[in-house]
Amino acid sequence: MTPDVRPLVAGNWKMNGTRASLDQIKAIAQGVRTPLSEKVEALICPPATLLYVATALATDSPLAIGAQDCHQTQSGAHTGDVSAEMIADCYGTYVIVGHSERRINHAETDHLVRAKAQAAYQADITAIICVGETADERDAYQTLDILKRQLSGSLPDEATAENTVIAYEPVWAIGTGLTPTAQDVEIVHAFIRDELVLRFGKEGRGMRILYGGSVKPSNASELLAVDNVDGALIGGASLKATDFLAIYGAYETLLA
Ligand code: PGA
Repeated sequence: MTPDVRPLVAGNWKMNGTRASLDQIKAIAQGVRTPLSEKVEALICPPATLLYVATALATDSPLAIGAQDCHQTQSGAHTGDVSAEMIADCYGTYVIVGHSERRINHAETDHLVRAKAQAAYQADITAIICVGETADERDAYQTLDILKRQLSGSLPDEATAENTVIAYEPVWAIGTGLTPTAQDVEIVHAFIRDELVLRFGKEGRGMRILYGGSVKPSNASELLAVDNVDGALIGGASLKATDFLAIYGAYETLLA
């Protein structure tokens, strides 16, 4: 945790979820309540097909709804793509950019991720910019070099604590059940914080840095308690309302 920073617990549904899954969104929207929601923000990023209905279901709840990717331009001849403006039009308030599955499966570069974050700013949406090393990079002791490069290339100069969230997601921890030790997470998040403060000053101090990769109810308390971990980006465990709410609820004790 970081003093005076409101944590964010975010779910990334990836390419999962049909209309039948809207019950889970409903349950999460009902489960996210005050007083905890005043201290900790909750967000679900369903697939684009469910975005509009999901925001409608969450209108009376503090639960925020976001998208998983956006195109770098506002509109045009880009078959199959979704723009940040369209996400905002569906009342989405966040968009994930630069997730490793996009970087790897769609060959997205730091430069492109930066342009996508800028598109999000233009649409008044907060960008969750993902960074993280692969297993090979980790084995070669390149983690911090990779993160430095990704941060400097993917973050626009206009990034602020308000419009940007960083998600540190070691690629080898995503969907594998493996997680770094709390000590490793502490070292990496401290490094990211230093980089952010160096470049953005006070804004960098307030930017939220989420941890992502195999977060589940059983390890949430330990990971969320680490210095400079300001929340989580959760894949698999966010698909079930009970699991997502259990992770979110870990803050009841952490903030008590
Ligand atoms: P996971 O995915 O929680 O299923 O490991 C995390 C992510 O990719 O955001």
